[in-house]
Amino acid sequence: MTALLAAWCLCCSLAFASSYPLIKSKPNDTGSNLLHEGHNNTGMADRCSDRGFNAITLDDKGVMYYFRDQYVWKGYIGPAELINDTWPEVPVPVDAAFRIHHRNKPEVHERMFLFKGNKAWAYYENKLEPGYPKLITDVFPGVPGDLDSALECPAGECKSDSVLFFKGKSVYTYDLSDPSAVKERQWPLVQNCTAAVRWLGKHYCFQDTMFTRFNPVTGEVHPGYPLDTRDYFISCPGRGHGHETRRNATLMSIKNRCSNRSFEAFTSDDSGKTYGFRGGWYFRMDSKRDGWHAWSIGSTWKGLKGTVDAAFNWENKMYFIQGSQVTIFLSDQIYSMVQGYPKPLQDELGMQQVDAAFTCPHSSDLYIIKGNTLSLVDLKNTPRVPGQESSIIHSNVDSAMCNSQGVHIFTGASFHRYKDPNELLQAKELPEARNIAAEFLDCTQ
Ligand SMILES: *[C@@H]1O[C@H](CO)[C@@H](O)[C@H](O)[C@H]1NC(C)=O
Ligand SMILES: *[C@@H]1O[C@H](CO)[C@@H](O)[C@H](O)[C@H]1NC(C)=O
Ligand SMILES: *[C@@H]1O[C@H](CO)[C@@H](O)[C@H](O)[C@H]1NC(C)=O
Ligand SMILES: *[C@@H]1O[C@H](CO)[C@@H](O)[C@H](O)[C@H]1NC(C)=O
Ligand SMILES: *[C@@H]1O[C@H](CO)[C@@H](O)[C@H](O)[C@H]1NC(C)=O
Ligand SMILES: *[C@@H]1O[C@H](CO)[C@@H](O)[C@H](O)[C@H]1NC(C)=O
Repeated sequence: MTALLAAWCLCCSLAFASSYPLIKSKPNDTGSNLLHEGHNNTGMADRCSDRGFNAITLDDKGVMYYFRDQYVWKGYIGPAELINDTWPEVPVPVDAAFRIHHRNKPEVHERMFLFKGNKAWAYYENKLEPGYPKLITDVFPGVPGDLDSALECPAGECKSDSVLFFKGKSVYTYDLSDPSAVKERQWPLVQNCTAAVRWLGKHYCFQDTMFTRFNPVTGEVHPGYPLDTRDYFISCPGRGHGHETRRNATLMSIKNRCSNRSFEAFTSDDSGKTYGFRGGWYFRMDSKRDGWHAWSIGSTWKGLKGTVDAAFNWENKMYFIQGSQVTIFLSDQIYSMVQGYPKPLQDELGMQQVDAAFTCPHSSDLYIIKGNTLSLVDLKNTPRVPGQESSIIHSNVDSAMCNSQGVHIFTGASFHRYKDPNELLQAKELPEARNIAAEFLDCTQ
């Protein structure tokens, strides 16, 4: 049941891969209490009722909370709980909630804030921070009480680390580095937000059960909205997209991060961003701040389709090998395909096919695995010619990656780690096999 429901949630994005949010279920979700028996007919504790939520936020662990009246729902599925079981200090219903992004102040960064009336409560690991509750005007001068909702907007998405507070028709942009400059504005389409949340770099305003995705700087609403929360953000009986693909076991195991299905490619860039590719989908493997989620590759690398056989990074470029072709993307704020690609692999790297490929951070040495051989190509050379093949103790390698922790060789559900390429070349015995899902995707049995 767990797997089925978890995969169902992930399936929703199939048809609308790029813009629609889906919430991971917590590992503990059993789905057995999807509706709180005896409450749903009163509309009180049925998360799928048409009443929407008072507030929605992530916590420091990447768990999404949905607040309504005296209840909170934790994660995509699961029963209602009483808010005061977890946060006994806060009067209910709460007005607003968000998780602050404030890199310049580590003592505040990642705190979850709850708001009620003219007061704010800050929590970390669900413990009230010393000195709280405080008056909103003491923590966020210039921001009014009795808020409707709030969300964080990190630098890069807003000009600098900021918080957006909503009240009626007004939005207050609070710049954390310049608290004297609260900006009050009115955006025609982003008003009356009963709840608001930033998730995976996207910004959402909820008006009762409907939600829109908006630009946090201009207030413009993205095309295709509003949509119904019950089809995307929470699991509701008989609702949700991807209804017809729900029973597609292949797709479910691709998108279920804990399925132990193999990955065809892994890569990590100089900044440590790590991606795992599986059947046209990918997972970010280096951060669980926003929970886990399978995205279609085309949503991040426009124009890339199908299965990725190998991937590697060099400088600010990401290389994708698919069969006998290679496609290169430049990474800036977003990825864009380099003109003239895809090209034959033969022209680019002097070979026709590879099983796996990796570069180590800040190095132009590209290692290529084919069968049980490893060869080296210096990406700085033109033309590029692979060096001599040396044999390694692995065969049937699915994928390989090198990051600050060393070289990883992935086969099936497990991987082996070496200090560096040299240790891989010298190895006479396999090091310990480790489980990919457990070590990269936080799956515990
Ligand atoms: C999840 O399950 C683990 C192990 O069964 C348990 O220790 C933990 O308290 C559970 N967490 C929640 C939030 O229920
Ligand atoms: C509400 O719960 C009852 C059982 O308590 C169930 O029969 C009914 O289908 C539920 N309503 C909805 C809308 O799910
Ligand atoms: C928690 O909230 C419920 C419902 O509002 C209330 O009945 C209960 O007394 C509260 N518990 C505590 C410890 O305040
Ligand atoms: C917000 O609420 C006000 C007052 O009820 C209403 O006039 C306005 O049309 C609403 N705006 C939107 C975008 O729903
Ligand atoms: C199931 O999903 C896989 C992977 O996306 C796809 O190739 C296959 O056609 C799907 N099958 C059905 C019956 O939808
Ligand atoms: C995945 O593999 C690990 C290690 O072999 C195992 O403990 C775990 O139960 C497997 N998970 C699933 C969903 O099969």
